[in-house]
Amino acid sequence: MVHPKKGCGRGVTPGGRWIWYSAGMFTDIHCHILPGIDDGSKELAQSLAMARIAVADGITTSFATPHHFNGVYSNPARAVLDHVEQLREELHNEGIELEILPGAENHIVPELPDALAEGSAMTMGNFGQAVLVELPVHTVPVSTEEILDNIRAQGLVPIIAHPERNTYLRQNPSRLREWVEMGCLAQVTAQSCTGLFGPQVRAAAHAMVTGGLIHFVASDAHRDRRRIPEISAGRAEIERWTNAETARLLAEEFPAGLAAGRVPDSLRLANTLPAPRQSWWQRLFRQTA
Ligand SMILES: [Fe+2]
Repeated sequence: MVHPKKGCGRGVTPGGRWIWYSAGMFTDIHCHILPGIDDGSKELAQSLAMARIAVADGITTSFATPHHFNGVYSNPARAVLDHVEQLREELHNEGIELEILPGAENHIVPELPDALAEGSAMTMGNFGQAVLVELPVHTVPVSTEEILDNIRAQGLVPIIAHPERNTYLRQNPSRLREWVEMGCLAQVTAQSCTGLFGPQVRAAAHAMVTGGLIHFVASDAHRDRRRIPEISAGRAEIERWTNAETARLLAEEFPAGLAAGRVPDSLRLANTLPAPRQSWWQRLFRQTA
């Protein structure tokens, strides 16, 4: 576990609580920490253990993002808000300093745009600005662009959850680039960067991060073991792949901005990413051209 540097200033959380923050403190935009409502935390004790791991890693705020519309779990906005309130109370009672914001990992289904419009599907933080969208594991449905367009037509920004873990997008990253160019954002999973899901997923994470297709790194934690709420190790890998400023944007500034109701500016990322590495023959060609 890489511990972030401490000490930077004082800030206020979306819940109105004053906190001391540091440049190395994280906001986790994707975490299955609510107990007993999806395939994430099984019970309250596990959620509390996850929260302690998150705090130890430097995470100060976590969006609780249970699955919704995935054919197995249904977690409409009202239910998410109730569960978030209960977990906040338990964390307060235990003295664990982790802010929980409401969210959802919404599976990409034709009903999603209407559900967002009527308020039955949860936006990130319930701010009505951005929506975490999950694709199937292997495929991209034919109606994907239409659904993303209908979400964007409401003034909402879709955030594609862990595209590096989708088989089709690993082979066809240009499809993700099209979505990003039309205004979508994307989130890489920290443990994809560190290799937990295998070399192919890690290679795709590298290509997408260095290609400017990723705007957030998040834990997508499900448990207090193995798939834990840890961002620091993934952030360190992203810094190694790119540079300190890109890692800071993806792990700190953009997620913290989302928690404060600000959608990231993709141009900042484009101006920060290092230029693509050239092979020896490309360098040779440039010198002789
Ligand atoms: Fe997830």
